[in-house]
Amino acid sequence: MADEAFVTLATNDNYARGAMVLGKSLRNHNTSKKLVALIGPQVSEPCQCVLRMIFHEVRVVDVLDSGDTANLAMMKRPDLGVTFTKLHCWTLTHYSKCVFMDADTLVVSNIDELFDREELSAAPDPGWPDCFNSGVFVYRPSLETYGKLLEYCTEHGSFDGGDQGVLNGFFNSWATADISKHLPFIYNLSSIAIYTYLPAFKQYGGNAKVVHFLGKTKPWNFTYDPKAKQIGGSVHEATTHPTFLLDWWSLYSSEVVPMLQDQYGDLPFHSGCVELPPSDIVIVETVVQGDSLSAYALALEPQLSSEERKMKWEQGQADYLGTDSFDNIKKKLDMFLK
Ligand code: UDP
Ligand code: GLC
Ligand code: MN
Repeated sequence: MADEAFVTLATNDNYARGAMVLGKSLRNHNTSKKLVALIGPQVSEPCQCVLRMIFHEVRVVDVLDSGDTANLAMMKRPDLGVTFTKLHCWTLTHYSKCVFMDADTLVVSNIDELFDREELSAAPDPGWPDCFNSGVFVYRPSLETYGKLLEYCTEHGSFDGGDQGVLNGFFNSWATADISKHLPFIYNLSSIAIYTYLPAFKQYGGNAKVVHFLGKTKPWNFTYDPKAKQIGGSVHEATTHPTFLLDWWSLYSSEVVPMLQDQYGDLPFHSGCVELPPSDIVIVETVVQGDSLSAYALALEPQLSSEERKMKWEQGQADYLGTDSFDNIKKKLDMFLK
């Protein structure tokens, strides 16, 4: 139906790249639904341009931040306050029904049948299965619900500092009221579950329809060698299933990078991590135990504290033309190697 849509969110260029891969994966699996990306004003113009080529609608929204550092600290994810922005998805009232998907999800099979479900349908969270995970959910846009959600935020806040806490508080009968609102786990298979219950993954993982790269390290934090079709940085391999990670990278590298290259010309960013030095010389990574891109960032800018620098990079605010230019990164790496 023309009035049904998949919706995602990206407040910065890193998550925007995730959104691009998600959009492509939905298209590659022949969805008949519309594709909508909600973005923050921070997303750069070239990225917005690429998003407009993949999505039917790209809408700039105000970034809502819970500012709830205490609860976010419990998840060790200070960055997730902005996930309140997700609530804007209820304002898309020109659609009668939507499926929201995090920008760190990847579709591996057609999932249009999700539109047969009702609000609020979602899969259990692997950490606390009586809560639903808010990385994939079916909902009905409505200004009334949007208003009530904002009211809920003001009155009760969020127990995790992010949208998932709010949504589970608001739709609090999900766990018990109606089993048809429990999506099978294969619609939101998080990499975490693979390692917490490996036999189940072996038994059912082949049926996965949506993979969710939940957690601090996202696919775009890895390095990739497009010629060898290999992921670099073995330090992280344990956190995400290598096959799904490769699926993400091969789609990003073959279909998204060329679009970014068209926009950015010769800038190193256009290929994400692809054109950074091959994985075997990403030595700084093992030093900081962080993601490789942050490691480059840490190595590059002594004026800012490591944390500030890392945050900026992770928020997609790298200075690609200046300090963070490819030449500078290369110089720094050469220095390390000497
Ligand atoms: N998000 C965003 N910018 C941010 C953090 C999050 O746009 O700085 C959006 C994005 O769609 C992301 C979702 O909010 O997928 C939820 O965050 P994340 O996936 O990082 O949380 P996790 O699934 O790891 O708990
Ligand atoms: C979760 C969900 C994510 C949500 C975050 C903050 O782990 O995967 O979608 O944004 O918690 O509530
Ligand atoms: Mn996510």
